[in-house]
Amino acid sequence: MAIRLSEKVATLKPSGIRKFFDIAATMKDVISLGIGEPDFSTPEPVIQAGIEALRRGETHYTSNHGLLVLRQAVSDHLKRLYDVEYYAESEIIVTVGVSEALYLVFAAMLDPGDEVIIPTPCFVSYQAEVALAGGVPIEVPTFAENNFVPRIEDLEAAITPKTCAIFIGSPSNPTGAVYPREFLVKLADLVRERDLMVISDEIYDRLVYGTEHVCFPSLPGMQERTVLMGGFSKAYAMTGWRIGYAAGPKEIISGMVRVHQYSIMSAPTVSQYAALNALIVGEPFVQEMLREYDRRRKLVVSGLNSIGLKTFEPKGAFYAFPDLRSTGLSDEEFCNRLLKDEFVAIVPGNSFGDAGTGFARVSYATSYEKIEEALVRIDRFVKRIG
Ligand SMILES: Cc1ncc(COP(=O)(O)O)c(C=O)c1O
Repeated sequence: MAIRLSEKVATLKPSGIRKFFDIAATMKDVISLGIGEPDFSTPEPVIQAGIEALRRGETHYTSNHGLLVLRQAVSDHLKRLYDVEYYAESEIIVTVGVSEALYLVFAAMLDPGDEVIIPTPCFVSYQAEVALAGGVPIEVPTFAENNFVPRIEDLEAAITPKTCAIFIGSPSNPTGAVYPREFLVKLADLVRERDLMVISDEIYDRLVYGTEHVCFPSLPGMQERTVLMGGFSKAYAMTGWRIGYAAGPKEIISGMVRVHQYSIMSAPTVSQYAALNALIVGEPFVQEMLREYDRRRKLVVSGLNSIGLKTFEPKGAFYAFPDLRSTGLSDEEFCNRLLKDEFVAIVPGNSFGDAGTGFARVSYATSYEKIEEALVRIDRFVKRIG
């Protein structure tokens, strides 16, 4: 029997992160600085809210859009933090994480051949989701010299008559870059001039260190041009609950709801109630986790730099992105050998697009003590190969 996969799926590369972690999972005593998820448990009152929802019998589908109380809480949250106003009834959808929001937005917006400009290195799903929706991802490289903030002229040069949107992810996975206001204001001018949409993945918005997070739709005239994505996975340590949201112009949200209603129906009800409580009582927990991430961030950045792996200071998320080129090894080789020889897992930069080649993603979403030990091992490894 001829088993057939669609061309779109057959040509889809498996995620470089997964490939690497499948190897690490077979080994003992590995310190993983590879994983993109908080090591903290979900705050206790949030877990309780989920349990209470189940006990109350909240075990049914919700509205396709998500619970109205949750959408209203998201709307209030965005107003309080960024002074943007979204109608809970029509401009917000609750999704199965930002992952689903990515799938929905491209399914709703793209026709075959439409192009989406994506600065790289970037989160592994962006290009794949564009391609699965029949679109064409156009990668625009960013560079360590500019702290991995795109150059406006590079974005402009990538625009063609087929460009539908520019995608941004700030704070960035994998680099930890936070796009400064001056850059975003220039980007706003560009999209206004060229009549484009922006899709803005702001899942790490709460994880910034000594700098501001600028919510892109809060810039003048940008709310009508932006689909904003946010989530609970990172700030509230809720990856396994699979819950997030998108906010944007009602026409696009309504298109996303149509795709969502046929593919998902509604985000998990128990997670919606837990997320609601995260917005109500979660702030002190966010602040506590943030303080700990910041302590680890300083350790990682100074540790890697003193080992001789040049690392720019990440201002957001929970990743550092050291430059490995001084070692003479490729990023793949470095990470493979570090794993094999010293049992430390980090992710080769090329997993996040060609622009990540020569770098690696080091996650500090793991304990301070483990990071200290990993740095000793990395130091030993670099001395040995040097
Ligand atoms: C930049 C970025 N966007 C989206 C996601 C997906 O998050 P969620 O758990 O909300 O699906 C991740 C997860 O690692 C991420 O790093």
